Formats: sequence, C-alpha cells, structure tokens
Amino acid sequence: MRVRVPGRETDNCRATAMPPESRHRRPLLVANWKMNGLHADGLALASALAGHAAAGEGGDIVVCPPATLLFALRAVFAGSAVALGGQDCHTAAAGAHTGDVSASMLADAGCTHVIVGHSERRAGHGEGDETVAEKAAAAHGAGLTAIVCVGESAADRDSGHALTVIGRQVEGSLPDGAAPENTAIAYEPVWAIGSGRTPGPADIAAAHAEVRAGWERRFSGSGAALRVLYGGSVTARNAGEILAVPGVDGVLVGGASLSADTFWQICRAWR
Ligand code: PGA
Repeated sequence: MRVRVPGRETDNCRATAMPPESRHRRPLLVANWKMNGLHADGLALASALAGHAAAGEGGDIVVCPPATLLFALRAVFAGSAVALGGQDCHTAAAGAHTGDVSASMLADAGCTHVIVGHSERRAGHGEGDETVAEKAAAAHGAGLTAIVCVGESAADRDSGHALTVIGRQVEGSLPDGAAPENTAIAYEPVWAIGSGRTPGPADIAAAHAEVRAGWERRFSGSGAALRVLYGGSVTARNAGEILAVPGVDGVLVGGASLSADTFWQICRAWR
C-alpha cells in the first residue's frame, strides 16, 4: 500500500508529526447508526453513501446499521466499496437467547465486521471485558472482523487513570486468536461520545499508543499492524485533524454518520 501523507495538519498535530511508516495502512472508517433508521430512511441513506463511494476513494468503509436493515442494505452495497457490519453479537453461536443476534447470523446477512464492547453495551447491558472478549471470539469464529471498543469515563480521566483503564480494557477484551487481520480496536472515550467534545491530538495519540502497548503485552510483537480507530464526536470539521494524529488508523462515527454527505466528507478527510 502506497504511503499517504495526511492532507491537513493543525499546529498541534504538526508538533507530533507522524513518522512515515506509521501510515502504511488504509484507514478503516466505520459508521455506527446505533438504534436509528427505519426501512425507507435507511435505504435512502445507504444509497446516497453507495453513490458517493462509487465516485471516489474513501478508505475501507463499513456501515453498521440496525440489524433489521442488514439484508436490505446488503443489496444496496452489493458490488460497492462499502462493507456491512453488525453493532453487537452474542457470545454463543445459536440457542435460547431471546432478542439476540449471533455472529454467524450477521455473516449470513452479509456482514464482514461487528462492533463489540461499545460503551453503550458495556454501560447499558452490563458487559464487562470478559464478555467482550467472548463476543470477539464469536465474531472470529464466524469469520468476522471484530471492532473492539475501549475507552475511559470522565471520572477515569479526571482522576488521572485514563491510560491505565484503556490498557486494562485492551488486555481483558481480546480473545486468544485475535490478530490484526481479524481485529481492530476503537478508542472511544465515554465522555466524548455524542457530547461534541473530543480529546486533543496529544491525548488521542497517547491513548492510541497505550492501546497498541496493551495489545503488545497481550500478543507480543504484533501491535504495529493493528488498526486503531478513534471514536467520539467525530465530525466533518474535526476528522482531518483526528485522522492526522499519529497512530490513528480510522474513525468510528455515530451521529455524523447519519448524513451520507457528512460521513462521506469524513471518509475523504484522511487523504
Ligand atoms: P458519536 O458516537 O460519533 O455520535 O459521538 C460514536 C460512537 O458511539 O461510536
């Protein structure tokens, strides 16, 4: 893969200029629609995004719609550069788990990726690191790439423990068999999600370095190839700056992914 130079740099980012070898991967740009999108709106949003993607280079794009839209969007994205992902999966392959979706069901619906351990699952459904690791293992078993989410709370950051929490979550949330080919990690500070607030470039760089360090403690030596995404209040305005931070290999986008035009601007911001 050709080395790409980020198009925009702020003074802050320039101060921590990225070594050329650190951006040898295509970025991974993930849209997390969360619990948004009925059939007609979802189809319209996906069609508009597929149209944009057909027109130009936007990195590796994955859209994670609600499970109800997966089969419909599979048809919309067929033959396009946009891949499909789930927002969560159960730890088990099948069985008596009312309301849940298995990783193999996601694969059957056309998914190549699944988000696991999102903070809204961790907080709203009591999912700890061990469960997240089991979900990632289930994803791998179904041939999916697991996008494993980690990130500190406001209290963790205020008490000076952000990096400790991030490192512990990384080590605890990865199953045996995780590899850069089947796993990406999304660093999403809980306080930044949906808040309009983002960490500064230096804090993002430090967090991503800790994610990679946690990976290397767990699987010695393979952290350099891992794609580490930033998530939390990414917008078309800040995406270029965030994607230029050393160690940032993509973004996980919630609210701003609900507009095809905005998300496409984010997808193009890494160039
Ligand atoms: P946000 O959500 O972009 O709306 O902050 C990101 C996420 O929760 O994945």
